[in-house]
Amino acid sequence: MAAKSSHTMTIPTDAELVQAQADLWRHSLSYLTPMALRCAIQLGIPTAIHRHGGAASLIDLVTTLSLPPSKAPFLSRLLRLLSTTGVLASNEVGIYSLVPLSYLLVDGVLVDGDASQAALVLCLTSRYHMEAAMGLADWFKKDIAQPLPSPFEDVHGATLFEESMAVLDPESDKLFNEALAAHDHMGIGTILRECHGLFNGLQSLTDCCGGDGTTAKAIVKAFPHIKCNVLDLPKVVDKAPSDGLVNYVAGDMFHSIPPAQAIMVKLVLHFWSDDDCINILAQCKKAIPSREAGGKVIVIDMVVDSSSPMFETQLLMDVAMMVCTRGRQRDENDWNAIFMKAGFSDYKIVKKLGARGVMEVYP
Ligand SMILES: C[S@@+](CC[C@H](N)C(=O)[O-])C[C@H]1O[C@@H](n2cnc3c(N)ncnc32)[C@H](O)[C@@H]1O
Repeated sequence: MAAKSSHTMTIPTDAELVQAQADLWRHSLSYLTPMALRCAIQLGIPTAIHRHGGAASLIDLVTTLSLPPSKAPFLSRLLRLLSTTGVLASNEVGIYSLVPLSYLLVDGVLVDGDASQAALVLCLTSRYHMEAAMGLADWFKKDIAQPLPSPFEDVHGATLFEESMAVLDPESDKLFNEALAAHDHMGIGTILRECHGLFNGLQSLTDCCGGDGTTAKAIVKAFPHIKCNVLDLPKVVDKAPSDGLVNYVAGDMFHSIPPAQAIMVKLVLHFWSDDDCINILAQCKKAIPSREAGGKVIVIDMVVDSSSPMFETQLLMDVAMMVCTRGRQRDENDWNAIFMKAGFSDYKIVKKLGARGVMEVYP
């Protein structure tokens, strides 16, 4: 017979029941928030408002977007949800305007040199991501041999950013890669302005998993004396523009990383398991000089923090990693354990920038 729980729940009051029911509606229907955002991007609402001088009425939008006039009352309801959830601003006379979030979704506008984030929203709200999340319960019940596939791999039989995804759906694969580039490239301007001490006095740097070199080039532009290597897989380096600003190296970070005074791993480790991170960081350690000679690894990644106003966002990003990759988001204790297991002696969180942290790790 099951042990009787000592935690008997007291029967909710009427006020609690009414609140609980409304909360359940909200939780069950919250998927409509990203769907409304997706719809806004697909219709081109942020771009239309921008082209309208930054503010537009319902009728302006119906006309500019060439929607049937009969859809005006429905668009008004979508705009009301978008305004209430912080995607747009609206005033009492029904004028809709952009906020920083929707400014990031305007077509063709560079924000601090970075591309629109529309591809990221379209990627995260794609049917592939939705179906992977819907497969979570089945995935939990399966006792699958290691290496454990992600729910995305389990449901689709394909891995994000790999050939299998390109074979499954070339158009979606292209969108997902655009989304990754938009996500990864955004923010280096802020890091350079807020954390220039990271790069001051540095003679050489290897950007490990540096992709097409966008981040490394921004660093070299701000600190021209730094000799910068960009390590990435041959398939990426083969397509990189060789303009002489940085030195591209085709290779595998699990085998060897080009030596430099500092190695940077920006938005890389969250994609990998703890054991993989320890192996990657051990390779980084082999590639740098002693701490006295200025050797360090710069890790830029999320630092989950329950006291942060971005905690819920960080948890959503963590579950997104669980659904789609074999990686995870980590808190400071997780980072500390990984750094020590990889053979480092000390680390410092140089700065927290939004949901992310900039860390220096010392040999
Ligand atoms: C999320 S992106 C990194 C973003 C980049 N650091 C930035 O901030 O713009 C991941 C990159 O890791 C590269 N990569 C994956 N496995 C690798 C490996 N074993 N060795 C080197 N690069 C690898 C991928 O090709 C891809 O360009």
